[in-house]
Amino acid sequence: MYVNIAFIGYGTVAQGFTEILLEKESMLKKEHDLQVKVVAVSDIKKSSVYDADGLNMREILSLVQNGKSLEDYPKGIKGKNSLETITQTNADTIIEVTYTDVKTGKPALTHIKTALDAGKHVLSTNKGPAVKQAAELLETARQNNVYYGFEGTVLAGTPALNLARNTLAGNNIMGFKGILNGTTNYILTRMEEGMSYQEALKKAQKLGYAEADPTGDVEGLDAAGKVVILTNVVLKKKLDWSDVRREGITGITPDDIQKAKNQHMRWKLIGQAEIQKDGSVRASVSPEKVPLSDPLAGVNEAINALTFITDELGPVTIVGPGAGRRETGFALLIDLIQMKDYRKQKDLKETGHLKTKN
Ligand code: HSE
Repeated sequence: MYVNIAFIGYGTVAQGFTEILLEKESMLKKEHDLQVKVVAVSDIKKSSVYDADGLNMREILSLVQNGKSLEDYPKGIKGKNSLETITQTNADTIIEVTYTDVKTGKPALTHIKTALDAGKHVLSTNKGPAVKQAAELLETARQNNVYYGFEGTVLAGTPALNLARNTLAGNNIMGFKGILNGTTNYILTRMEEGMSYQEALKKAQKLGYAEADPTGDVEGLDAAGKVVILTNVVLKKKLDWSDVRREGITGITPDDIQKAKNQHMRWKLIGQAEIQKDGSVRASVSPEKVPLSDPLAGVNEAINALTFITDELGPVTIVGPGAGRRETGFALLIDLIQMKDYRKQKDLKETGHLKTKN
């Protein structure tokens, strides 16, 4: 299958995904029947370029990694803004990875809605739109016969949403609990080794774990967003930011960390939600002291862990990277392969070759 991609936003995650596409080009063709052409890149700071025949992504990567503008690309049409790139190019798939206000979801929400309404598939690691309107966006995608993938919004490329929505389908999932933010887990790990909070935060930013504004990480907002997405999409209960009781890690002092260590315990920022007997949901993000014997205590660095409480299997846990440019870029590859499967099914149905009724 041929796929024409347009990137809306070309920061670290988009660049990580581009590297994966370039390195895995022959594997994607051979094993997944995927031939991907990037036809457009639009970024608020780096400008934009469009070539219906496809861009040389090695050249694009080299330009942006050397601090140059996309205007310096030798071919193509320059200057289309994000909405023009979505609607006025031959891209069939929009990769939405702009810097977005996670509370309002803008501008990503506008980009995603515009793309879905224009009949284009959307793959996005942007949390804001999924927090605000995951169910609505899935419904818009369904009505327009297109795919909306957002695996990277929770636990980066560690397939938490896929595990719950696809692999564990058939279970009733009543709740979940885990370490949902890479930056804070990294900071807590470094602080336990004696590094200062400020230095650890700086390192987390340099490694590409932290959000553009790291306040969202350390004050628990990012983890709360993931709690909202998981609750809306996996528990299928309506939840908003304001419904999540939230406390970050800014109040944890080196002294608190040392005291926990002496008690054979470790601080972790835990996000969780559980469906109550009356059908309501109790959701929170807060630092907890966990005993070293608890499996969550062994999850360090920018690694995340998430346990789903299922009716058939009891607790099922997934552990893996929760942040990072390639790690989050990989989530887009998961979405890309799933979109291809969706499109193949759709094509089969439309051409009448798939038996849908007995
Ligand atoms: N800033 C986020 C984190 C990135 O540290 O987990 C991934 O959502």
